[in-house]
Amino acid sequence: MIFKIDSTSRDAVNAFITRQWVTLDMVVHGESIDLSTSDGFYSYENEEINGLITYRIKDNEMEILSLDSLLHNKGYGTELLNKAIHKARNIGCHRIMLITTNDNLNALRFNQKRGFNIVKLYRNAVDESRKLKPQIPFVGMDNIPIRREIELELIL
Ligand SMILES: CC(C)(COP(=O)(O)OP(=O)(O)OC[C@H]1O[C@@H](n2cnc3c(N)ncnc32)[C@H](O)[C@@H]1OP(=O)(O)O)[C@@H](O)C(=O)NCCC(=O)NCCS
Repeated sequence: MIFKIDSTSRDAVNAFITRQWVTLDMVVHGESIDLSTSDGFYSYENEEINGLITYRIKDNEMEILSLDSLLHNKGYGTELLNKAIHKARNIGCHRIMLITTNDNLNALRFNQKRGFNIVKLYRNAVDESRKLKPQIPFVGMDNIPIRREIELELIL
């Protein structure tokens, strides 16, 4: 089942975020964003949160801040993403964007297969982000050095 984050789920959602991302701060394009108050949806089965998408809205645009699914390849990630897309459409957003890093080939695959396009590459963004969040590792998925931020967009 998918639920919207509300005051009753906030503590559990924040604990989930901390487990996934070490802290409640998500650093992208040189900005530290506090996820502890972000809007979003979570998937909940067997009395546990097993997936979460967070986002923020600015100027008719949705930025997806995080998307995590613990139970891979069962449809939760797609369901969470679709929920956010539906929300963006409903409130009149014309674009959804998200940032991932160059090592995250799975995110590049997952999002492109769901209509997102790669639109920008930020060459030194991860160095800048690391100054704000030193916990960002130097080596990421598949032992690929994490160097670049990549922006993807979905035009609605
Ligand atoms: C990217 C991520 C969110 C995907 O979550 P997920 O729950 O595995 O996503 P889904 O199950 O919806 O889809 C994954 C694949 O499983 C397949 N799948 C879905 N339901 C399935 C089922 N019941 N049986 C078999 N396969 C299934 C889908 O077809 C999909 O394949 P495709 O992407 O090649 O089309 C997840 O891998 C993740 O949390 N990654 C780490 C965090 C991260 O990188 N986040 C950034 C995302 S921007």
